[in-house]
Amino acid sequence: MDHFLYRNGALHAEDVPVAVIAAAVGTPFYVYSTATLTRHYHLFTEALAPLPNLVCFAIKSLSNVAVLKTLGDLGAGMDVVSGGEYLRAKAAGVPGERIVFSGVGKTREEMRLALEGGIRQFNVEGEPELRALSEVAAGLGRTAPITIRVNPDVDARTHEKIATGKKENKFGIPIERASAVYAEAAALPGIEVIGIDVHIGSQLTELEPFEQAYLKVADLTRRLRSEGHDIRRLDLGGGLGIPYTRSNEAPPLPTDYGALIKRTVGDLGCEIEIEPGRLISGNAGLLVASVIYVKNGEGRDFLILDAAMNDLVRPSMYGAHHDIIPVIEPAPGTAPHPYDVVGPVCETGDTFAKGRPVAPLREGDLVAFRSAGAYGAVMASEYNTRPLVPEVLVKGDQFAVIRARPSFDEILKRDTIPSWLE
Ligand code: LLP
Repeated sequence: MDHFLYRNGALHAEDVPVAVIAAAVGTPFYVYSTATLTRHYHLFTEALAPLPNLVCFAIKSLSNVAVLKTLGDLGAGMDVVSGGEYLRAKAAGVPGERIVFSGVGKTREEMRLALEGGIRQFNVEGEPELRALSEVAAGLGRTAPITIRVNPDVDARTHEKIATGKKENKFGIPIERASAVYAEAAALPGIEVIGIDVHIGSQLTELEPFEQAYLKVADLTRRLRSEGHDIRRLDLGGGLGIPYTRSNEAPPLPTDYGALIKRTVGDLGCEIEIEPGRLISGNAGLLVASVIYVKNGEGRDFLILDAAMNDLVRPSMYGAHHDIIPVIEPAPGTAPHPYDVVGPVCETGDTFAKGRPVAPLREGDLVAFRSAGAYGAVMASEYNTRPLVPEVLVKGDQFAVIRARPSFDEILKRDTIPSWLE
């Protein structure tokens, strides 16, 4: 459920007509709903209660500081994967003790930043990283709390580019090697082993892969405890999928997921962390665009929008589907027309959808891409020197620009001419 609905024939973001935002901000832009973000965050906290838990929002899915502050003020933790994301969490006022640091290639500078600024735990992904963290922490006279990310060799049955839990993937340590790596970690200076981490992939639409992975984590918890480790926290990753089409998709709900967590690891007395991104942010955002032209092609009609692959790359990158709806609600009984929906970028890959039935549209009409909150703005680029797409946050009847569209001046000023060209 989200808060982008038609009212009196006009698409609203909560209580604000999307067309009003478009008039104020210009297109394209992303718009996020506070009520949807809040609701989705609470679905997880409710699903995990009464287990002691922290829901750490995966910042990579949507990292605007205003969004992070919205969630952080509710008590959410944050899952970060870079020094930049760590600084975003801090800028949103989230204390270090609610920030977990994931990622397969943390640099020593990033480790130092987090150790000095405060961190709940590092999710360590391999032995070289473990040794580097030990050196950095010991050098600072600090102790780094860690979990080790294990790779359970489970097929997440999702798009191959976002599956992470198979042994051929770059993530974590093979679960069979866990005893040896935990023993090494326990002996290293500056390291305190506190738990286990697992994350098997993103946009999972079945619970079964989670179940397989979490049962392996439960076994591992018992084994590591018998080997003398104080395993008291389990980070179970993110990955719960969302429906991208209104019609037939019904991925498992957070309540089912919570019940599964209780069933598989609930009796271990561990504090539970999860790192959902998409389920919190995905359906909390729209990308709004205008129709530049409707062009009749060879046996097809092109809807040429002012949004492009640089603004929302998921369709070209993963073949992902996003529902595309007009901002003015079509009159009942309007027959949809099949369009190839494309952007202005100079490559054929800049195609959002082919033969997509949408109500007939004309130049200047507004359309919205649904479910664009996650991995939308964060993956945007300035390809074709198209200014980075702005972001707007709505709360009730209020809206605010939370990232402005840069001017061409600002963009051009970032390039500098070397002395030999002057
Ligand atoms: N934790 C870790 C360690 C992760 O790598 C990820 C996502 C998450 C949590 C959050 O997963 P979520 O709950 O959002 O599924 N750009 C791709 C998705 C990449 C996901 C990367 N890791 C897309 O647009 O589908």
